[in-house]
Amino acid sequence: MALLEVQGIVKRFRGLVAVDNVSFTVEEGEIKGLIGPNGAGKTTLFNVITGVYKPDAGRVIFMGKDITGLKPHKVARLGIAKTHQVPKPFGELTVVENVAVSSLFGGKHRSVGEALEEARGVLETVGLGEKADLPAKVLNVQEKKRLELAKALSMKPKLLLLDEVLAGLTPREIDEMLDLLRELRRSKGITMIMIEHVMHAVMNIADRIVVLHFGRKLAEGTPGEIANNKEVITAYLGDPELALKFVRRE
Ligand SMILES: Nc1ncnc2c1ncn2[C@@H]1O[C@H](COP(=O)(O)OP(=O)(O)OP(=O)(O)O)[C@@H](O)[C@H]1O
Ligand SMILES: [Mg+2]
Repeated sequence: MALLEVQGIVKRFRGLVAVDNVSFTVEEGEIKGLIGPNGAGKTTLFNVITGVYKPDAGRVIFMGKDITGLKPHKVARLGIAKTHQVPKPFGELTVVENVAVSSLFGGKHRSVGEALEEARGVLETVGLGEKADLPAKVLNVQEKKRLELAKALSMKPKLLLLDEVLAGLTPREIDEMLDLLRELRRSKGITMIMIEHVMHAVMNIADRIVVLHFGRKLAEGTPGEIANNKEVITAYLGDPELALKFVRRE
């Protein structure tokens, strides 16, 4: 049984079909890449999976259970956590307090004290242990991305949805984040769906990739298959001949 099944999801905003009949499955332990040009519907799809939006059609099945339309805190408690595309920590709260607030939302603790204590452990895992008692507003981009990851991890997810966690990072910071994600899969067995525009990175880490374009699923396959898919290259760059030259550096 797949860990997650997305079946025929449709999400409209007034006249705009942001997600148009998208289906795919995610196997336990998999890292699935979710790519597509700006506005393709990637974040909207995450918001449907996590219960922020109710889909106009389709179903979301998690661990064999239909979770379509459940409220976000219920989805979180079942084991799906998401990082936000634009980190918005509570700037005046400390880093550790931000993580504790998330974990309380995820419903894994009985007391604030317990949540705070465990949050320190999560911050160590993502390499932010030394920043725990600083106000979140002083963190730099890389640290804010790691805080987003810590907040999601504090909910002890089985499935982690990563929305552009590499955006704004330097090449070296990207490598460090990829190592961290691989380590999380290895040590905690966390399954991931990763929305990403940093193409070489997602090609490097994902087992399989789903491509969205104007809300529709344009392609699905291994990174090698996707990198050589003419329709995908066209969607990104407009002209297939030019795009192939670009990709192959001819
Ligand atoms: N709350 C909303 N109300 C109205 N339209 C929305 C809303 N959220 C998203 N959209 C629209 O739905 C489409 C898909 O947006 P979405 O944010 O899912 O794209 P995306 O693939 O995540 O893009 P990006 O790579 O730029 O983050 C866009 O046209 C966007 O303007
Ligand atoms: Mg987005």
